[in-house]
Amino acid sequence: MSTPQTTPDAQATPDAGALSREAIARVDVSGQLEDVLALPEHLRDALWRVESAIIMQGWDTSAGLVVAGMGGSAIGGALARAALGDHASRPIFVTRAYGLPPWTTPDTMVLCASYSGDTEETLACYESAGALGAQRTVVTTGGRLAEMARADGVPVIPLPGGFQPRAAVAYMTVAALEVAALCGAGPRLTSEIDVAASHTEQLVAEWGPDAPEDSLAKTIARGLYGTIPVVAGAGLSTPIAYRWKTQINENSKLPCFTHELPELDHNELVGWEGAREVGRFAAVFLDDSDAHPRVKERMALTERLIAPSAAASFHLETRGETTIERVISLVLLGDLVSIYLAVLRGVDPGPVPAIDELKAALAAS
Ligand code: F6R
Repeated sequence: MSTPQTTPDAQATPDAGALSREAIARVDVSGQLEDVLALPEHLRDALWRVESAIIMQGWDTSAGLVVAGMGGSAIGGALARAALGDHASRPIFVTRAYGLPPWTTPDTMVLCASYSGDTEETLACYESAGALGAQRTVVTTGGRLAEMARADGVPVIPLPGGFQPRAAVAYMTVAALEVAALCGAGPRLTSEIDVAASHTEQLVAEWGPDAPEDSLAKTIARGLYGTIPVVAGAGLSTPIAYRWKTQINENSKLPCFTHELPELDHNELVGWEGAREVGRFAAVFLDDSDAHPRVKERMALTERLIAPSAAASFHLETRGETTIERVISLVLLGDLVSIYLAVLRGVDPGPVPAIDELKAALAAS
């Protein structure tokens, strides 16, 4: 992991000690931190749940896999696709919409992922998949999705209840990886996932609440405090950057934006010129040991070019050997940063009243 670089104009942040376990618990009343720290257990439990839920026969879908979901339930599909990388042998597509891609056929596996089981976009995809005669699998805690799947004889991977949907990221990622393998879209990564769980345990100790105040996750949270974070990924780290954004949105209750290299060097790079006129923007670059060498070079150059315009800048690299270890490493780091940032701001990371309000208004209309 590269040394984080913070430009000297970082705003004063709350006192040292503000991120002790006790201090976090006073703000994080619904215990979001505990769910993040349990990521290694979630990885193992998810494997067990998929294996015990599904008897896979005749599942070979030559047209590939579509993962249909929204928000915290969709990200697992994107992370799984990143972890499979070049080993994906068939198309893997994530849809966050009311419909499926037009090329969906009876030879496509559609994994409908909804933690609550009541998300209307995902329910619409489930029904479209049925109408098209596609193969279906469901991953959920219950709701209408589980009811329909059980009535239709569609396999259901059951998830444990009581989480915020976004806290089930390990479950959703493993479900997508395992279903990808079972339908012939990628290799089976079961043992890699198990090893990644142990690797993640070490990172939990290194970045968790009992680590010193100058540990990496706490340092980043302090550096992002008082800024609008802009997170850049590339290749494998692109969906991780998006995860950082959504976790900072939902846990820290802050605007946060994301982009990917090399594309951002052809547009966003120029926008940084005016950043200081309109606000305090911080840059976070998510690098990977196996990134394309030219992309690595671009990341370093881009960071240097925007430095005068950034209130803070961090260049972070994935940790671990396998792709699944590396993906999970930066997901964990981002999740912790988003919770620490919420605590520094004094906001409870758990509830998302704006999403609840919006869903209630739509349900009533
Ligand atoms: C809430 C969250 C949201 C939900 C999304 C879809 O923690 O992360 O992004 O995931 O509103 O709801 P579910 O996951 O229930 O299908």
